[in-house]
Amino acid sequence: MQTEFSVESNDWKMRQHGSSRYIVFLVLLILMFSVTSTISETHAQVKTIQGTNQAICISDECFNLASRILTSMNESVDPCDDFYQFACGGYVNKHQNSETGSKSTIGDLVKLVDYRVKEIFNKGISPSMPETVKQAIDFYEKCIDEGTQNNSGLEPMFSLLESLGLPRLPIFRSKIQLLPEVLIRGDKMTGKTPFFNIAIEQQHGNTYLTWNVQKQVFNKQLFEEFFKTLDRHFRLNVIDAQQAARDLFDFYSSMFTFSVLDKNEVWMSVAEFQQLADDNGITWFNWKRFLTSFLEDSSFKFDLEKGKILVRGPTIAKQLFYKLHVAQNQRINSYTWFFYFYSTAPYTMTDFRDKYFAMDPHFRFNSSGEIDLQTRCIAQARSVFPDAISYAYISKYFDEETKQNTEVMVEDIYQAFKLLIRDIDWTDEQTKRFALEKLDAVKQNVGYPQWLMAPGALDGRNYCLEDVRGDWLTMNLKANIAASKKYFLYKFNDTNWTGTSKMAMNACYEGRQVYVPAEILNSPFTKNGLASLNYASLGVFIGHEFTRGFDDEDLTVEKNEEQKKWWSRKTLKNFDERVQCMVDQYSQFLIPELGSNFKLNSIQTISENIADIGGLREALLAYDLFKNRQMHNVNGTEALPDPEPYLPVLTSYSHKQLFFLGFSNMWCQKESPAHLSQKLSTDAHSLSHQRVLSTLANNRDFAEAWQCPLGSRMNPVKKCIDW
Ligand SMILES: *[C@@H]1O[C@H](CO)[C@@H](O)[C@H](O)[C@H]1NC(C)=O
Ligand SMILES: *[C@@H]1O[C@H](CO)[C@@H](O)[C@H](O)[C@H]1NC(C)=O
Ligand SMILES: *[C@@H]1O[C@H](CO)[C@@H](O)[C@H](O)[C@H]1NC(C)=O
Ligand SMILES: *[C@@H]1O[C@H](CO)[C@@H](O)[C@H](O)[C@H]1NC(C)=O
Ligand SMILES: *[C@@H]1O[C@H](CO)[C@@H](O)[C@H](O)[C@H]1NC(C)=O
Ligand SMILES: *[C@@H]1O[C@H](CO)[C@@H](O)[C@H](O)[C@H]1NC(C)=O
Ligand SMILES: [Zn+2]
Repeated sequence: MQTEFSVESNDWKMRQHGSSRYIVFLVLLILMFSVTSTISETHAQVKTIQGTNQAICISDECFNLASRILTSMNESVDPCDDFYQFACGGYVNKHQNSETGSKSTIGDLVKLVDYRVKEIFNKGISPSMPETVKQAIDFYEKCIDEGTQNNSGLEPMFSLLESLGLPRLPIFRSKIQLLPEVLIRGDKMTGKTPFFNIAIEQQHGNTYLTWNVQKQVFNKQLFEEFFKTLDRHFRLNVIDAQQAARDLFDFYSSMFTFSVLDKNEVWMSVAEFQQLADDNGITWFNWKRFLTSFLEDSSFKFDLEKGKILVRGPTIAKQLFYKLHVAQNQRINSYTWFFYFYSTAPYTMTDFRDKYFAMDPHFRFNSSGEIDLQTRCIAQARSVFPDAISYAYISKYFDEETKQNTEVMVEDIYQAFKLLIRDIDWTDEQTKRFALEKLDAVKQNVGYPQWLMAPGALDGRNYCLEDVRGDWLTMNLKANIAASKKYFLYKFNDTNWTGTSKMAMNACYEGRQVYVPAEILNSPFTKNGLASLNYASLGVFIGHEFTRGFDDEDLTVEKNEEQKKWWSRKTLKNFDERVQCMVDQYSQFLIPELGSNFKLNSIQTISENIADIGGLREALLAYDLFKNRQMHNVNGTEALPDPEPYLPVLTSYSHKQLFFLGFSNMWCQKESPAHLSQKLSTDAHSLSHQRVLSTLANNRDFAEAWQCPLGSRMNPVKKCIDW
């Protein structure tokens, strides 16, 4: 999945509305109006200053937008020389000493959404909520309740270990073989096994079983930390943590190191898989028995005689089972013990949990590797109940009108992209036809899936509603079991909104679908008072996502052979030349913050750059489509006298110019050099200021709107355009 921006998550304090900045603007506007004589109302949100013929948008949204744009600008910079400094110089200057690594216009929205989600959790359960939302909040409350976690102690974990047939402490006197019984019980009670992972998956409407080697990654330090913590609780010194960690790590390494990197995926019947697992014809691990037990808890029906399992890495499976058969039981048992200890201890006392999360890169949100308890618990609750929080957020903070307006916008962008494809001169007719067909097939997902807000649907689809109850440990184990065994979600045969969480602070293109989730449908993306400014911000994003379906990654490295046939040799050559133009151009980009000789890796970002340049072109054209509809209003009476009013205070800027100012404002960002260089090495996107400068420099409408002389920095002679 491609996400458009990354922001650090930080505690956020809600800023007061009616800030002094806003008041300054009111004063400015009143002054402005009082010098002209009277004001005549022509439209609810627009006023015309008599004698000037200038229509000005006076809605709150327009004020906020004007304020944001003006305070971000540095008008003493030449817009044809450095449009980023012109549009964002004020912003950068203002946040010069910002304490965090990065501060951005978009980041402010991320923080607003985080804040709202926190509010939902902190307000607690109310009786009218769907059961699923209650469950999510209950999960969160148990997660932050450290007192209860501490009080329940380690006993719940010990009794779980005992019911698996394992000792309470990692001291094995007996050398009996516990496999496969302990794994059957472990799977039933935790949804996990230490050596492999059976899962129910679905693709293209088919549901099937898969086998994978267990991918849990451990290191020696983690083993040691866990043993030490355990020993501390007993003050017994029964465990030599260092020695135990070393032994365990050696075993772990030997089990999970394979002589091949087997990426094959093979369909196998249970009998065939059994043969693979057998050692010289000796069946020591009965697969039919394991699978029968696994499937007992699942609504998925699998025929043990005829059904096929998708085995990921058959050679790895064979090696693993051979190693398991010949290894000393005592070592297998120790490792199995540790695995289940590790899977349960983090849900008992807080010191285990802290160790666990300190090691999990998934939860390392800030640069020091820490994250506060609330944020972490929200992330956990949302990963277990993703739809619940979407539901709660959408009911409280989202409106249908925004969804509908955005759907219109997505349709406009799609139509605009189509027109642009029809117009390009570097493809042959056949490629063009295929491109248009491919574009036609792209699904458009706006806001949230239709079913989500239908009465009863959320609870109806919650596959773990009945299961996930109880204390903190039980809830976690049950959520895990439900996730691995219930393929309930898939039973609905969804064709859209299949790939991504509803609540995502990002737009994305994934598997031929464009996603514009409810979370981003806020200012600065949209609700900017003027439709054109919404097209300049959200519209460009949507265009960017559509274009991702046509970047070099998606087209020339298309896995599907069918797609390769699109490209005639000649067209491919033309496309490659255009890609090369961008690679060359972007590699010339300077980042003085990182040293004078600093060169960008413009190959890493090429797909995103193609999409940025295309996205802006599409949004400009889409806005024209929108405007034409407005001006030739089919109903005749509603047409605005001026569909393109000026913004308060910014009246010296034409409407076209505001479009580019609005677009650039989205990317205003103050970043520390450390943040910049980290982004450069990991991000598929160009840096924010480059996204502004290079995208605009390749756009002819921009040069025209700002009357930039040909050959100036913002209007180079050579422009690179793919789509
Ligand atoms: C605006 O830009 C000018 C010219 O680059 C610079 O001298 C000035 O410091 C900038 N002002 C702010 C507030 O950033
Ligand atoms: C829970 O126990 C840990 C040590 O085991 C302690 O550091 C922490 O302060 C305790 N928290 C509460 C809320 O009791
Ligand atoms: C990271 O988060 C923790 C917990 O919220 C906080 O105490 C710490 O100061 C943060 N570190 C940085 C570098 O932001
Ligand atoms: C999928 O999208 C179509 C329109 O594109 C809509 O009618 C349908 O309800 C959507 N399905 C879901 C599950 O959201
Ligand atoms: C999903 O598709 C399967 C197979 O086509 C069908 O049997 C099932 O009834 C469908 N489920 C729903 C909820 O439409
Ligand atoms: C035209 O009028 C109808 C009925 O009043 C309304 O539903 C529709 O949205 C209007 N169309 C436009 C483009 O304003
Ligand atoms: Zn992107």
